[in-house]
Amino acid sequence: MPIVSVVDFMMKVQKEITVEKGTKLLKALIDHDTDIVHTCGGIAKCTTCRVTIHKGVPTKKTQAQHERFERAIKSGQSQFDHPAVFLACQVLVEDDMTVSVSETFNSIIHDSPGKDTEDGITPDPVWLDHEVPDWWGIKD
Ligand code: FES
Repeated sequence: MPIVSVVDFMMKVQKEITVEKGTKLLKALIDHDTDIVHTCGGIAKCTTCRVTIHKGVPTKKTQAQHERFERAIKSGQSQFDHPAVFLACQVLVEDDMTVSVSETFNSIIHDSPGKDTEDGITPDPVWLDHEVPDWWGIKD
């Protein structure tokens, strides 16, 4: 079964999670008590669940994530213009991966970590190819 390694900003491993192949990344993180905000509950709307995938970057992405990122980039949010940034609610864990969480819970900013999320990806995923450039150096 794939292992998801959660690292902090210094790339120090905080936890390792063994998950069933095909598990939604956000669900795996929440079920293993990872501090990750997920305001909309995993429907590709809020972008609070974004993660950077340092190793094991998927070669596909959902159209919903793609369209949400396009809107964010057009509005000047350049942090979404990176091949290793994904919405955890739009990723299926197929192989080992190393991830860092972008937004952790802070009671001053958030009422709660977020709504419950379903097991599967919402909306029903339409998969697009996702290319990881060699310069990122994260292809295993
Ligand atoms: S976009 Fe809202 S939880 Fe993923």
